[in-house]
Amino acid sequence: MKLLVTGGAGFIGSNFVHHALEHSSHEITVLDKLTYAGNLASLDGLPADRFRFVKGDITDSELVDSLFADHDAVVHYAAESHNDNSLDDPRPFLETNIIGTYTLLEAARRHGTRFHHISTDEVYGDLALDDPSRFTEDTPYNPSSPYSSTKAGSDLLVRAWVRSFGVQATISNCSNNYGPYQHVEKFIPRQITNVLGGVRPKLYGTGENVRDWIHADDHSAAVLTILERGVLGETYLIGADGEKSNKDVVELILTELGRAADDYDLVTDRPGHDLRYAIDSTRLRNELGWAPRFADFEAGLRSTIAWYKGNQSWWAPQKADTEARYQAQGQ
Ligand code: NAD
Ligand code: TYD
Repeated sequence: MKLLVTGGAGFIGSNFVHHALEHSSHEITVLDKLTYAGNLASLDGLPADRFRFVKGDITDSELVDSLFADHDAVVHYAAESHNDNSLDDPRPFLETNIIGTYTLLEAARRHGTRFHHISTDEVYGDLALDDPSRFTEDTPYNPSSPYSSTKAGSDLLVRAWVRSFGVQATISNCSNNYGPYQHVEKFIPRQITNVLGGVRPKLYGTGENVRDWIHADDHSAAVLTILERGVLGETYLIGADGEKSNKDVVELILTELGRAADDYDLVTDRPGHDLRYAIDSTRLRNELGWAPRFADFEAGLRSTIAWYKGNQSWWAPQKADTEARYQAQGQ
């Protein structure tokens, strides 16, 4: 297939591009606006005969239309993706996540293009810390933040375009990703690069909030599986049973980098901070045969720490601006 990958210069999109070029014979075009979060260096070393990059905005309907005319399938990663930024200025989230997804769906409708929509488990809201249940495909939507509500809105647009216009789409909702090439604004890279720079990690609130971590490589393998074998119109949850409190993660990072496990600060909590996410990915495992390869979170985290240690030239240019933004937000 000729695949169009939106947001392919971001963290998870670039991981998928590398994964799909290695594990399939698809050709790939990346469409990416190169916002602060996009980085062409994440796409270095790809085969020129099977890979092309187009700089552009997913809300540009003329550009989108011309690209859809020339591709068999679209994997839609492009988004404004960071909760803290969405609390500071929601508008770009509405523009890219809602209007951008709408623009792509209209093109998919015109061209009959197979569409896979990448989403998040945050559309389901949060679970109590002591609640044994996990999100499933049947959990009602209940998003908390401007980010998660625009992702929920984009999922609902996809479902409506499937039902009303017969667009051939699937949706996946994945838990928190970690791995190399993640922007330093996100929790794990922020704390690793803080420690590497001699700065104490910053935990929001009590540090007890829980995230369900999955390595980005496992997410990419799941998306390729759904793209090739998923049932049209269906939603699949992607998760790797990686629940950890933020405090546990920071302690692991500090210990791995040779510092005392309690060498962190508790800072002002994020407004509306979701308590806990947890994914039940039984459906994807049973129906499509996917299973995560990084079953051991601590081993995956150690290799991620090693990557940030060895690739300072990739992340250092973004670090000062990111911390200045956090400082302005009081975090
Ligand atoms: P990211 O912020 O690292 O990358 C987003 C990419 O989209 C960037 O390259 C950016 O330049 C591009 N982009 C933004 N606006 C654009 C526009 N208008 N037109 C074209 N390109 C645009 O994000 P990420 O963490 O890689 O997340 C990718 C997708 O996966 C998002 O849809 C996100 O909601 C979803 N997701 C992320 C996680 C996670 O843990 N990071 C978990 C589940 C789902
Ligand atoms: P983040 O990476 O922003 O992902 P999300 O909001 O999508 O879950 O944050 C992960 C968790 O880490 C979340 O509970 C907020 C918390 N957090 C901190 O405690 N300190 C930080 O500096 C950041 C960026 C996040």
